[in-house]
Order: sequence, then structure tokens, then C-alpha cells
Amino acid sequence: MSENLRIQRLSGHAIEPYLPELARLRITVFREFPYLYEGSQDYEEKYLATYVDVPDSVMVLVWDGDSVIGASSGLPMAAETPEVIRPFLEHGYDPERIFYYGESVLLRPYRGQGLGKRFFVEREAHARSLNRFDLLCFCAVERPLDHPRRPADYIPLDAFWNRRGFVKHPELQTTFSWQDLDENGESSKPMIFWLKESGSRLAFCP
Ligand SMILES: CC(C)(COP(=O)(O)OP(=O)(O)OC[C@H]1O[C@@H](n2cnc3c(N)ncnc32)[C@H](O)[C@@H]1OP(=O)(O)O)[C@@H](O)C(=O)NCCC(=O)NCCS
Repeated sequence: MSENLRIQRLSGHAIEPYLPELARLRITVFREFPYLYEGSQDYEEKYLATYVDVPDSVMVLVWDGDSVIGASSGLPMAAETPEVIRPFLEHGYDPERIFYYGESVLLRPYRGQGLGKRFFVEREAHARSLNRFDLLCFCAVERPLDHPRRPADYIPLDAFWNRRGFVKHPELQTTFSWQDLDENGESSKPMIFWLKESGSRLAFCP
């Protein structure tokens, strides 16, 4: 990691001053495949306000000088939306024991120097400090292999996530709605969850 970059880990209300910058970052990065997200600053700031309202949330920021160039989030699953919680209830999990990772976004020029790995380490350290979670989880969008906007050189993140100790659980599925770049309005997107047992030694030895 370049020595000009600085990592900051925040929780709850301390996140509030950075919402506009976080919103801009999400809109920029999630326009890319596989998210293809046509975002609005207004919606983003409302979505991100959840992290301010939940005291045990986490937001990891990466600064280059005065600019936030990357961010990664998480919060107790019990504070998430019904779309996130439902598949876990249906499969007999206790949402109170699960810590949910929201997203990792990093501007392209800063990728490939270990910041993505650091996001996992920082969020896991935060979840572990709360001392009430058995599982860590996140979800990712499923896109068809022949999707017209899939870049020829696109490398799926599955192997990266496996190396972070996460396992894909196709039985845990939900849908999120957003507007793709090619769409006129929102549509449902299939999302699949990945889990990691936070009690295992592996969990804390990245
Ligand atoms: C996910 C993301 C944050 C990773 O950040 P990063 O700093 O580049 O990641 P790191 O440098 O820590 O590690 C990169 C890992 O991915 C692999 N990798 C390198 N280039 C890659 C690429 N173009 N695509 C996918 N994986 C890549 C590396 O081999 C490395 O894996 P390993 O060290 O475990 O072997 C960043 O790629 C990103 O913002 N992507 C777009 C948004 C996104 O898809 N977010 C995830 C879902 S919310």
C-alpha cells in the first residue's frame, strides 16, 4: 500500500460527515460491471444514513490526501432490511448472531495494492470487538456469463472471497432492486450470500 494512503475506521454518528463523499464513490464504482448501477446522490445518502443510525456499524475509509478514494461498510444483520434478513430466517439462522458486510468500493487506480484485503481485516476486527457474532456475511449479484456488458477481461471476485475464508451459499438468496444503466426503471436483481464462521481461527488470521 502506498505510504500516502491513510486508513480510518469509523462507527455510527462519526460516519455522518462523509456521507456525500461515500455516495459519490458508490455511484462511480457501482456503474461498472457487475453492478451497472444508475445511482442518484439523493438515494445514496438516504441509504448510507443507516450506517449513521446504527451505533455498531462500521465504515472503513481510505484517504489519499484530502480525498476519500475507497470505503467499505458493515453492520449487525438485525439492523438490515427484510430482503437481507428473510433468507436467513427461512434457513434457521439467528440474525442477531450475524454481522453483515455492505460493500467495498475502491477507485480503479488504487486497486491491486492490498486495500481490498485490508477492508476485510478491518471489518472483521470491528465485528470481533462487538463479541456477539458467530457469522460474517455479504451478498453479491449474480449476472449471466454472457451478459452483454461483461468486460472481456473481467475477473470474478469469487476466488478472492474464498481466500478471505468466505464460502458461497446458493441456498441463501434474495433480490435487491435498482436501475441498471440499460434500464428505464428499477428491476429485481438476484443476490447470493457468502458466509464465514467468525469463531474459527481462520477468521482472524487473514
Ligand atoms: C473489490 C475491491 C475493493 C478489491 O480491492 P483491491 O484493493 O484491488 O484488492 P486487493 O489488492 O486487496 O486484492 C486483490 C485480490 O484480487 C485479485 N485481483 C487482482 N486484480 C483483480 C481484478 N481485476 N478483478 C478481480 N480480482 C482481482 C488479486 O489476485 C488479489 O487476490 P489475492 O491476493 O487474494 O490472491 C475492488 O476491486 C473494487 O472496488 N471493485 C469494484 C467494486 C466491487 O466489486 N466490490 C465488491 C462487492 S461490493
